[in-house]
Amino acid sequence: MSIEFPRGFLLGSATSAYQIEGAAAEDGRQDSIWDVFCRVPGAIVNGEDGLVACDHYHRYAEDAKLLAALGMNTYRFSVSWSRVLNDGVVNRAGMDFYSRLVDELLANDVTPWLTLYHWDLPAALPGGWTNRDTAKRFVDYALAVHERLGDRVRTWTTLNEPWCSSFLSYAAGVHAPGQTDPAASIRAAHHLLLAHGWAVQALREADPSASLGATINFTPALPASDSARDRDVARRVDGTTNRFFVEPVFTGHYPADVLDDLAEIWPDDLVAEEDLAAISTPIDVLGVNYYTTNVFRAGEPTEPTPHIAAPDAVQVLRDLPLTGMGWEVDPAGLRNLLTWLHADYTGPAGVPLVITESGAAFDDVADEAGYVDDADRIDYLRRHLTAVREAMDAGADVRGYLVWSLMDNFEWAHGYAKRFGLVRVDSGLNRIPKASARWFADVARTGRVG
Ligand code: FCB
Repeated sequence: MSIEFPRGFLLGSATSAYQIEGAAAEDGRQDSIWDVFCRVPGAIVNGEDGLVACDHYHRYAEDAKLLAALGMNTYRFSVSWSRVLNDGVVNRAGMDFYSRLVDELLANDVTPWLTLYHWDLPAALPGGWTNRDTAKRFVDYALAVHERLGDRVRTWTTLNEPWCSSFLSYAAGVHAPGQTDPAASIRAAHHLLLAHGWAVQALREADPSASLGATINFTPALPASDSARDRDVARRVDGTTNRFFVEPVFTGHYPADVLDDLAEIWPDDLVAEEDLAAISTPIDVLGVNYYTTNVFRAGEPTEPTPHIAAPDAVQVLRDLPLTGMGWEVDPAGLRNLLTWLHADYTGPAGVPLVITESGAAFDDVADEAGYVDDADRIDYLRRHLTAVREAMDAGADVRGYLVWSLMDNFEWAHGYAKRFGLVRVDSGLNRIPKASARWFADVARTGRVG
């Protein structure tokens, strides 16, 4: 059965600066926390790093043409903060790079969608996100980037996946800066949300007609059984994973049950009077990143964990296919997520949803010509696009779907082994579209999934 998306539906792909750019020490770019983290022995699989990555910094023009050749109308990329600001001073060479990239995208009829923060915080900022001052520095950074690119970039995302840059980074130690302190992770989460709110206020004032928003990663958490313990553990995981972020942005409150769960470690001095009003500054679009849904049962506590309110959460695999990340393929989870968000948050606020990341790593095998016939990825995308259409039919206001990712890249702590690209990047950094790229190009050109 074929499905169709409305005219103007955004169909494209997403990347992030540290994962593709390389040129880590070029043209005045300074270290981010990811450069530093990559030097920690054992932090990254095979000791890999983003020093060269996909060399997008030098190949951006070719990559813009690739997007156009794949029929994509939208490209979501992120700016590397430590490339464009050094100690608060604009680094012209770094800004020039993004200006050239944006020009190249527009020349190829690809609409740029800019994410300000995709995890690569300047290493020089003392205390990282545990420091409230970092949220203020973020506003300076947002305005500096806007000053240079605001005439051509009309859609601005403040944060990518604040759950990852707080709980996964400061409590679980899996991502930079690799800390394992639950109270610090709460500070990081609150300051990230504050940075978002303050930046939306400042950008709105500078540019009232820009489209502003945040991207949150949602991983629905379901109980393994109907028992009270399993239901409670799933509620606690859901609280810090999903509701901790979406609830204050749309309602101006942290969820009451999450505050109860975290009461013992919640820092008393953290939330100032005006903070939640800033955090809930109205936005124009909510970016949704969805990869999977998880099922939990209550078990023995383990630490460190990103689930700071549920160290006793034990994931239970269902009888579903797994991606190369070991993540369950669950497109129905995406449909349910979108209808929930629309009903409880975005619908009442009149805010549309865009899937800003969806995709899968698989253990790709290239033939002698370097071509990957990735039927598994096509199936994943087909089923998730279908789920989006179903959610729209049920009333959810969804305006686009961006695949993670345009090309294979540096998958954070997993290094380069996990391949999410529609386009393969070989050891010579050549871009070779996979079968999924050809398939998605057809979807992007026609708005139809055959
Ligand atoms: C998301 C990140 C993105 C990429 C995908 C696989 O959590 O935003 O950078 O790592 O997962």
